[in-house]
Order: sequence, then structure tokens, then C-alpha cells
Amino acid sequence: MSQVPIIAFGTTKGGSGKSTACVLVAGEIADRGENVLILDTDPQQTTMKWFERCQAAGQTPERIQVVPCLSEIALGDRLKALPQNGVVLIDTQGALTPALAIIASRADLIVVPSRATKTDVVEAAAFVKYTEHFRQDGVRLFLNSVDAIAMKTAVFKEAVSYIAEEQVPYFTTMLYQRPIYSDVNDNKGTLSTIKADPESVRKARANISALLAEILEELSDAGNAAAEVHETEAA
Ligand SMILES: Nc1ncnc2c1ncn2[C@@H]1O[C@H](COP(=O)(O)OP(=O)(O)OP(=O)(O)O)[C@@H](O)[C@H]1O
Ligand SMILES: [Mg+2]
Repeated sequence: MSQVPIIAFGTTKGGSGKSTACVLVAGEIADRGENVLILDTDPQQTTMKWFERCQAAGQTPERIQVVPCLSEIALGDRLKALPQNGVVLIDTQGALTPALAIIASRADLIVVPSRATKTDVVEAAAFVKYTEHFRQDGVRLFLNSVDAIAMKTAVFKEAVSYIAEEQVPYFTTMLYQRPIYSDVNDNKGTLSTIKADPESVRKARANISALLAEILEELSDAGNAAAEVHETEAA
């Protein structure tokens, strides 16, 4: 693993929740006292704009920094000058760009959000396959924007079956569809600064916290595997 963990949010499918998950996970990590550097590699600059809205409102999130990385050169330079501590998150464009190839080979973990329909998971699974050109593991899908009613439908069950049949690696945590998530992403602030009903905030944070726990577990497994390889090489 690199010195600081690099977690990318990627998939070719637009609107699946890459930027939303990136910002929410960043907020949760920062709330736990760690520094987060977000590299926004998407020309839409969704995450950068979110950060600028926060700054303009005088609500710059503590311990979070977002920088634009709009060329492969800029990205490469950033990856050569990573901070000494904290976590690096990368928000990506929904397309198979040259930058994505760099990210797919450098990230310690690629988190792949997908909406819970067959069409969406098929595209997400194809993206996971694409990453196999660059890495053997450390790529996981999670279902985003699910709701209790939709979960009872055939559409949802078909999507879940596809993930199982195709053996797509996934996180068991699903992010629910919550207006508070789009409020954070579309407006300003983080879940800890947003003015909203405390119970909604608590549930929303618990959901993100569960996803982050799985992300950290996956990173620690990857770190252990890398350490084992080094030990074997040294033996
Ligand atoms: N779990 C969720 N609950 C509520 N709204 C959500 C959720 N996830 C995403 N959204 C909303 O869906 C829209 C698309 O999400 P987002 O911008 O994160 O997708 P994306 O994958 O980054 O898209 P793009 O490919 O265009 O970069 C946004 O308006 C966001 O607020
Ligand atoms: Mg985005």
C-alpha cells in the first residue's frame, strides 16, 4: 500500500453516487480526526464545487482539502507529492479516461457505487472487470440510493442476483436514498455541520459509518496481504 491510503470512487455509469459517496466518506473520516485530501479528477468538478460552496458559506469542512486534477500530468504530479498522513480520496469522471487508468493502477481501493437495477449493476460489473487490467483486487461495488420499498421489488432482487451470479466483489452496506445525502452534496457542509433533524443526521451518519468500516477493513486486508508478500520476498 502507498504511504497514505488512496481510495477512488469510480464507475462509468453517470449519476450513480461517486461524488456523493466521496464527500460523505470524506466527512466521516474528517469527523474522526483524520486529514482528507480529495483529488477531483472529473471535468464536471462536482466535489470541487461542493468545497467552494462550503468555503463561500464560511463552512469550510475541518480537515478536508479538495484540489482539482484535470489532466493526467496534474494527477501524476499530485500522486508523487502525497501528504504524509491522512487519507486521499479520488473522485472520478464517469468514463474510461486515461486518468482512470492511472487511478485504477494506483488506488489502494476502488469503491464502485451502483444503483440497484440490473442495467446499473451490469455496467458497474463491467467497470470492475475493466479494472482487472490494472489490478487483481481491491475493487468493490456497493448499492447506492436504495429504499425499503424498492428493496421488495423484482428489479432490486434481479440486481442482487446478478452481483452474486457474476461474483462481483461488494460491500454488504448499502447507502439508502436519503434527502440529507443530496442536501450535503448539492448544498454545503457535511453531515456534522448540516442543519437538519438530529435523528435523520444520526441515521445518515450510521449508514456512512458502516460503509467506512467496510472500506477500512478492506484496506487493512490489502495492507496485510502486501506485508505478507514483502515478508515472503525477504525470506
Ligand atoms: N444515497 C443517496 N440519497 C439521495 N440522493 C443521492 C444518493 N446518492 C446520490 N444521490 C443524488 O444523485 C445525484 C447523482 O449523484 P452523484 O453526483 O454523486 O453521482 P456521480 O456518480 O458522481 O455522477 P457523475 O457520473 O455525473 O459524476 C446527485 O444529485 C446526488 O445528490
Ligand atoms: Mg460525480
